[in-house]
Amino acid sequence: MPAEDFATPATPALHPATLALHAALRPDPGTRSLQPVLDASVNQGFDPGSAAFSADGVDDLAALPFLYARWGNPTVRQLEQRLAAVEGGEDALCTASGVAAVAATCLGLLRAGDHLIVSDVCYAGAHELMRKLLPDFGIQVSAVNLSDLDAVRAALRPETRLIHAESPCNPLLRLTDLGALAELAHAHGALLSVDSTLATPVMSRPLSLGADLVIHSLTKFINGHGDALGGCVIGARALVARLRGRAGVYLGACLSAQAAWLIQRGLDTLGARLAQASRSAAALAHWLQGHPAVSAVTYPGLPSHPQHALACRQMPGGFGAVLTFQTPQPEAMARQLAQRLRLVHYAFSLGHQRSLVVLLGTDDMMRSYALPPAGLAEYRRYAGDGVFRLSVGLEALPDLQADLDQALRA
Ligand SMILES: Cc1ncc(COP(=O)(O)O)c(C=O)c1O
Repeated sequence: MPAEDFATPATPALHPATLALHAALRPDPGTRSLQPVLDASVNQGFDPGSAAFSADGVDDLAALPFLYARWGNPTVRQLEQRLAAVEGGEDALCTASGVAAVAATCLGLLRAGDHLIVSDVCYAGAHELMRKLLPDFGIQVSAVNLSDLDAVRAALRPETRLIHAESPCNPLLRLTDLGALAELAHAHGALLSVDSTLATPVMSRPLSLGADLVIHSLTKFINGHGDALGGCVIGARALVARLRGRAGVYLGACLSAQAAWLIQRGLDTLGARLAQASRSAAALAHWLQGHPAVSAVTYPGLPSHPQHALACRQMPGGFGAVLTFQTPQPEAMARQLAQRLRLVHYAFSLGHQRSLVVLLGTDDMMRSYALPPAGLAEYRRYAGDGVFRLSVGLEALPDLQADLDQALRA
C-alpha cells in the first residue's frame, strides 16, 4: 500500500500505533514474506534504456530504480515510506544518525548569505553544528527562545530561510507552539523544521500543525532498543527530494540497510512501547514531586509545567517518556545514583527499552549553548543547577519506583 494512501485526509483516521505497524508495509513481491526483507546489497543491476533515465531530468532520486545504496536501497526505502506514512508526510529521507538528519536539512536548504533561527536550547550536538560550523560556510545563525514569539519576530531578517525547533526540547522539556511558529515563519517566507524525537509521531504530529519538515533521531524511541543509530527528515515530496539531491547524496551519511531493518522492527512496536513508557513516566513524575530527596520535577504532563495547557493541545497522544528532576547537591547525587541504581542505567541517550538516567549540569550545558544572561535565567527556571534526565523504559512501574526510591534515599 503506498505511503500516500495513509497520508490523505480521505483515509479513515488510523491511530499512529496502527500506522506504525501497517502503513506502507508491503509483502516482499518475490517471496510474499510479511516481515521486511533485509536487502544489504550496495548496488543493483539496471537497464540503461529504462524510461526512468530518459525523463526530462529526474529531480527526485527516489523515483529512480535502485542503483547504488548512497542514492537508495530497498530496505532503507521501505523504512522511509513507513516513516512518512506514520508522520503524515509525503516522503522521508533516512540518514546515518539524528545529527546527520539535522545536517542534511541545513545543507539542503541553506546557502551562504542565508539566515537560520535555531532554538536557544535544543539537542546540544545539533546546536553546536548550527552555531559553530554553519557560520564558517557564510550562514548566519541566531539562537532564540522559540517559546517567546516576540523574540522570534525580533530575530527575523529578510534573509531568514529556516527556523529549527525542538518540542519538547532536550533537556529542558520546554515546548514551542508549533502552529503559531509555523504561521510566523511562513508569513516571512521561511520554512519550519521540527525535531520531534522526544514526542515521536505517537504523541504529536508537527506536519499537521504547519511544520514543513519533521526530524527524528531514529536512534531513540523509534528504534527503541539501543542497538542502531539513525535519523530521518519527513515532509513534502519536493522538499525531501531537494534534501536527498543536495545533501543526502553528497553528505554521504546514508543509513545502512542493516540499521534500517532493525529500525523497522522497532517501529512495529512504537505505539505499545510509548503507551506503557509514557504512562509510567507520568506516574513517576507525580510520585517524584513528593519525594523528600527531589526539589523539582519537569514533565509536560504535570499541571505545574509552565506550558501544560500547550502540551495538552499539542501532544494529544500523551506527554512522552522523558522527565527531569532536580536534587540538592546534584554531583553528589549523580555519584550516589550511579552506585546504587540496580535497574535504571546511569548513561546518556534516551528512548531505549531500559530506563536511563543522567545528570546534565547547567554549567556543563552552557559550554554548548553560551546563553546570554536572560537566556541563562530562563534555562535555570527549568533546570536550576542541573537536571537528572530520566528516560523511562519498559520495566514494571512498581519496580522502577522502588529502584529510584532506594537509590535516591541512600
Ligand atoms: C532531540 C534529539 N535530536 C537529535 C539527536 C541526535 O541523534 P543521534 O545521536 O542519532 O545523532 C538527539 C540525541 O540525543 C536528540 O536528543
